[in-house]
Parts: sequence; C-alpha cells; structure tokens
Amino acid sequence: MSTVLTQITDELISLFDSARSVAVLTGAGISAESGVPTFRGGGDTEIWTWRGKPITELSSAELISADPKLVWEWFDYRRGMLKEVVPNAGHFALAQWERRFEEFTLITQNIDDLHRAAGSLNVLEVHGNIWRARCLRCASVFEARECPLEENPPLCMVCGGAARPDVVLFGELLPEQIFERAEEAAARCELFFVIGTSAVVYPAAGLPIAAKQAGARIIEVNPERTDISFFADVTLLGKAGEILPQFLRERG
Ligand code: APR
Repeated sequence: MSTVLTQITDELISLFDSARSVAVLTGAGISAESGVPTFRGGGDTEIWTWRGKPITELSSAELISADPKLVWEWFDYRRGMLKEVVPNAGHFALAQWERRFEEFTLITQNIDDLHRAAGSLNVLEVHGNIWRARCLRCASVFEARECPLEENPPLCMVCGGAARPDVVLFGELLPEQIFERAEEAAARCELFFVIGTSAVVYPAAGLPIAAKQAGARIIEVNPERTDISFFADVTLLGKAGEILPQFLRERG
C-alpha cells in the first residue's frame, strides 16, 4: 500500500538525487494546467462526447475505415483546441529532469506534442502525435501542421495517397518498436514516475506494474488516487505543474 503525501519530503529528494536511471509515464493530466481537457478524471470515469458521439468511437479503427472524413474533422477540432496551447511548469520540469540523470526516458500517452515543445528530447509517444499524418497507401509519415486542414483527408507528400492521423486509435496496436523501448526503460529504471494518468488504458497502464516487478520504486503524481495507487510506493496528491518543479528546488 502506498504512502500518500501532499508535498515532497527530504527522503523523496534523496531518492531522486541518488537515482541513476529514471523513467516517467505521463497522461492527459500533465497537460490539464495548459488548458487541455483530460479524458476522464475529476472523479468522473465517463469519457466525454463530441457531436453526440463518445470520443472512443470517434477515435476508433472502425470509423477511420468507415468515415475517414469525420475522423479528420474530429482531430482537426482537437488540433484547433491545441493550436494556441503552450507547455506548463510540469512539462518544463521534466525537460530539466532529462538532463539530471544518466538514463532518462519520458513515455507519454499524450498526442499533444507539449513535451517536445517544452524541450524534452528522449520522448516515446506511445499513442502517436496529432500534428503528424500517415499515408494509408505507402505508410509515409509527415508533419501536417496546417489547422484548419486545407483538404480532408490530407494527401501524402510522397505518393499523393490519402493520409490518416498518425495516432493510435481505439482497437489498434501501439507502435511496436516504441512500446518495446518503453518496456525496456521500465524494466531498467530505479525510479518510475506515473504522472497525470488514470492508468486505465492498456498496455501503457501496465508499464508501472512491470517496472515494480523489475524492482523499481513507483512514485505517482495525481490530484486523485488511481488504479495505480495500490502499486505505488508513494502517491503525491497534487497537480503536476506544482509538484514536479519541487524536485528541482534548491538543495540546503
Ligand atoms: N496534474 C496531474 N494529474 C492531473 C491533473 C494535474 N494538473 N489534472 C488531472 N489529473 C489526472 C486526473 O485525476 C486523471 O487521473 O490526470 C488523469 C487523466 O486521466 P485520463 O483523462 O483518463 O487520461 P489518460 O490516463 O492519459 O488516458 C489514457 O486514454 O482516452 C485515451 O488515448 C487516450 O492517451 C489517452 C488514454
């Protein structure tokens, strides 16, 4: 059962300072303070809807084959929401953490690109990136930043074929190589941070458990307890943008 704290302790700071290998899993919660709505949380597990459809349906493999235009309209709506959004103190803290450890891996479920915008380099985007598109014919991946979209669907820059968002949709497998690297980082790390995720969507939610089984300490940061709280060594109840920078505070 985890220790529940509302602010970091000297013991946690020394654990942080003595670590050589650290891995972090982030979810929608780290972008909440940037104004990006989470999918669940706030005590509510109900996922939100758009045009009367649950987003699990809009972001699904079935719909991309049945009605790719509607999927793009949904993603272009989200891109419109993200266009002016900037990283917050939580994102910037993790970009600084990356430079402190011999080995640091940032695994994100977010497709909002905010970790990179904050300066993080070694980012594993296990659910893809909303600002990229992938050709349905030749599988080329390219940046698709214009918002709103000039044409729906956008056409491949290589073969001219129709493209789809380069994100993992419900019912699809995660990108194999990227997820293998995430699993390796979880198996190697001494400290595994779980930040801003309800930890209900697998296989990403399985990473902290794999890290724990490999002997890592699990530190969760979330204003609420989650399914992972049971496995975590420490649950820091609070917002990522307020808690993560505390790990960088002046040492006495
Ligand atoms: N700081 C830290 N955590 C926060 C904050 C904050 N400021 N605000 C909210 N949270 C927490 C919520 O309490 C909740 O536990 O973030 C979590 C967000 O959970 P979800 O909305 O379920 O998001 P996530 O876990 O990333 O969802 C996983 O599900 O819908 C799919 O593909 C989508 O990647 C997503 C996946």
